[in-house]
Amino acid sequence: MTAQPATQVLKIEPDVIMPGAVGRAARTLAAGGLVAFPTETVYGLGADATDGAAVARLYEAKDRPSFNPLIAHVADAGAARALARFDSAAQRLAAAFWPGPLTLVLPKRADCPVAELATAGLDTIAVRVPSHPVARAILVAFGRPVVAPSANRSGHVSPTTAQHVLADLRGRIELILDGGPTPMGLESTIIACLDRPVLLRPGALPRADIERLVKLAQGPVAPPAHVDELPIAPGALASHYAPRAPLRLNARHVEAHEALLAFGPTAVEGAARAVLNLSPRSDLIEAAANLFSHLRALDASGAAAIAVMPVPRAGLGEAINDRLERAAAPRA
Ligand code: TXA
Ligand code: MG
Repeated sequence: MTAQPATQVLKIEPDVIMPGAVGRAARTLAAGGLVAFPTETVYGLGADATDGAAVARLYEAKDRPSFNPLIAHVADAGAARALARFDSAAQRLAAAFWPGPLTLVLPKRADCPVAELATAGLDTIAVRVPSHPVARAILVAFGRPVVAPSANRSGHVSPTTAQHVLADLRGRIELILDGGPTPMGLESTIIACLDRPVLLRPGALPRADIERLVKLAQGPVAPPAHVDELPIAPGALASHYAPRAPLRLNARHVEAHEALLAFGPTAVEGAARAVLNLSPRSDLIEAAANLFSHLRALDASGAAAIAVMPVPRAGLGEAINDRLERAAAPRA
């Protein structure tokens, strides 16, 4: 692989099997290359999880300051069992929600083939079985685990379209499979099943769905903003999902120098430089799907700041507010 790859974009219909494009992705991964592909949550940047050099290139392409551990994506629960040990809660969650937007952090098996660098030397591993047909087809064709963080530069918001990926990673990765906008638009929910099930990151699978099956213990206290030394879910670092413009949350009015991220049918006082509405009909699923693309677009409007209207915390609102609060947190 060359140091400065030309990034190819291949369009792919999510619902039509395209062996050409999928085979190309699998061969690129096998050669140690980096491939961005859609999942049901956000676009992932994939590398062969068993190839330490490929994983190192992945960190470099993302500009990840430290080696945050990565999620190993596999085709099915059987493949996940070759990487990690499942307790009964983990088994129940996997049976109920895989394939789908749930990541489990589990004890790593001694014979786990995933490169040490991908798990940042931890004795645990994050595993996920995505449901998106393109992601599934790649995993089946490749036949090995694929580590895939969100396909953005470190510190930027997660990409929900191939254009977002290109904007962040052009010239740094070999291939992007463009399957259109990702359906959910928020990253997976992360649950650790180490001793008791703990919510590490709210995400596209709402807490209430999980709590119908297992009781969640009180999570770890969110690490302070300046800590970036392997907290239990390092993605929980405070200012992780930041656009360039500062965010002002719970805005009831907007100022002339600001862009407005609206929610619901009610107008706020004042005139904004640019306005995008997460969901005029107050639908949290629609809001989740629009969150990152609207943040990117308002950031690109050149506004000095982004005012954000309040979003309710029910259901997916927990994860949406989590991402907004991180984006608004003081920068390191
Ligand atoms: O929806 C998603 O999960 C997307 C798509 C592409 O699958 N991926 C994603 O990956 O969001 P990433 O790397 O952006 O976020 C993964 C999070 C990070 O916060 C990381 O610190 C945490 O998972 N993580 C990974 N392994 C872990 C482990 N062993 N223990 C605790 N946290 C872990
Ligand atoms: Mg990420």
